Amino acid sequence: MREKWWKKSVVYQIYPKSFQDTNGDGIGDIQGIIRHLDYLNNLGVNMIWLCPINVSPMKDNGYDIADYYQVDPSFGTNEDLEELVRCANTYGMKIIMDLVVNHCSDQHKWFQEAVEEPDSKYASYFIIEETDGNEPNNIRSYNGTSAWERIGDSNRFYFHAFAKEQPDLNWENKSLREEIINMMKFWQKKGIAGFRIDAIGNLKKSKATFERKVFEPDGSDGMISAEPFILMQEGIEEYLRELRDEVFDKYDMFTVAEVNVPENKISEFIGENGLFSTVFDFSYTDLDIEKIGGKEWKRNWTVKELKEKIFQSQNMIQRCGWGSPYLENHDQPRSVNKYIPEKDLGYESKTALATLYFFLRGTPFIYQGQELGMENYPFKCIEEMRDQFAVDRYEQAEKCGEDARKVFDYLRVRGRDNARTPMQWNTDSYAGFSTVIPWIDVNPDYVSINAQQLTEPKSVFGYYKEMIRLRNKSEYAETLTYGDFRAIVTEEDNFICYSRYDERYEIIIMINFGTDMISLPNELKAGKVLLNNRRENDGTLHSYQAIVMVREK
Ligand code: GLC
Ligand code: CA
Repeated sequence: MREKWWKKSVVYQIYPKSFQDTNGDGIGDIQGIIRHLDYLNNLGVNMIWLCPINVSPMKDNGYDIADYYQVDPSFGTNEDLEELVRCANTYGMKIIMDLVVNHCSDQHKWFQEAVEEPDSKYASYFIIEETDGNEPNNIRSYNGTSAWERIGDSNRFYFHAFAKEQPDLNWENKSLREEIINMMKFWQKKGIAGFRIDAIGNLKKSKATFERKVFEPDGSDGMISAEPFILMQEGIEEYLRELRDEVFDKYDMFTVAEVNVPENKISEFIGENGLFSTVFDFSYTDLDIEKIGGKEWKRNWTVKELKEKIFQSQNMIQRCGWGSPYLENHDQPRSVNKYIPEKDLGYESKTALATLYFFLRGTPFIYQGQELGMENYPFKCIEEMRDQFAVDRYEQAEKCGEDARKVFDYLRVRGRDNARTPMQWNTDSYAGFSTVIPWIDVNPDYVSINAQQLTEPKSVFGYYKEMIRLRNKSEYAETLTYGDFRAIVTEEDNFICYSRYDERYEIIIMINFGTDMISLPNELKAGKVLLNNRRENDGTLHSYQAIVMVREK
């Protein structure tokens, strides 16, 4: 197994808009991140992933970029970003950026020229089709609306996989690809150590995407899902190889791609000389949803299934490459609400969940607030939601005569704003996030869940800190980083158990992910306990007990 600097990393994801406001406009900013570097250093993380901070009209909170070379004024200036990189480096922390290049904003000057001048070179930076007046076909965007948007009152339509304010870029175009590569080099020179690459599986569009025809709909809206047309299409690797050879590999960057890779492609994507350092696996973070009629809905799942999905994912990735265990991000609700029944929420269950994923093989990710055990926001109506994705979905439901209440109930537990409410620093007004009303409401539970609990004996933060120390700074760091993964399977559905091992140690991670006691098999009783989220150590696992134990070989 090749050693790489980023294999020793623990990544902390920051959603800048919601992290810390320092200039009293209710919006988080880069100076706010600088202010809390001490906090992050205390937690022990050594890499920060910044969600997009480029100039943007913020239709999708920065995932709609209007200028790839400038920091958005609401977050600060390019100098602020350089200062952040410098300050972070003094703590030994690296910064990676979000690379959003499947699409840009409809406010980007490329797009504006493309719209105004059908013959300009920028028109071919986008996917624009001229028809006799109808939309080219009935493909549905991920936001639930048509993927084609008419330009003014012309017969030209542009393609957007996401919101209509996010026109897709045309990767067939060599000059576009060159522009993107130059832009990446620009940020690399500023000290950026890598990229989290957004929606990358959609870069290549199949021929059928442009066909003039009405495809057999898969929903009552008369449209058909975009995935089979644009996700992981044959030939996408060519574009990705170019990025790897021109940028990622040249500068020894860390890259994590947002893409679900099928088993037969995994080694090409993350194997030796793979396209990326690692990819996010959705299989266990999306196990609570399913697609019906082209739309996502909640589904019931079991702990057994969760366990199987995690084990499958680890086994598949281990065969050729490196993983990126995570529970949360800015597109997911809070993990504690997803995986733990409401009645069981508390210190033990939250730390059991943390133990479950943190020692898996790969570079672990923590999303802001996860280390405090932050919970979903108690949304009461759609007006409280800020996410365009949720608003589009809701309005579309109303338009199509669907049950809007049912859609709202789904969004309440699954909506992305659950993870986007302000970081809860303390018990001051607005949770210490800002001195004025923030852009999105603070979760009222900040009075008890906040970063002031750090020193309490039973603090979720303290537990995360200890997990990070074990993984990075203890004598078991090598084993917990490079050691192999082995699933330990027993009859008990709620018992999740695996080990990490090398020539020196075997480290066993045992979790009771339920409330009924589980008696441990004899072979799992002996060893030195490294971590225990409860007091008991009596050969049984009590309600939501998690134990990490080591044996010398
Ligand atoms: C990714 C991002 C998400 C964004 C979408 C479009 O899935 O994580 O937040 O809305 O891409 O850029
Ligand atoms: Ca601000």
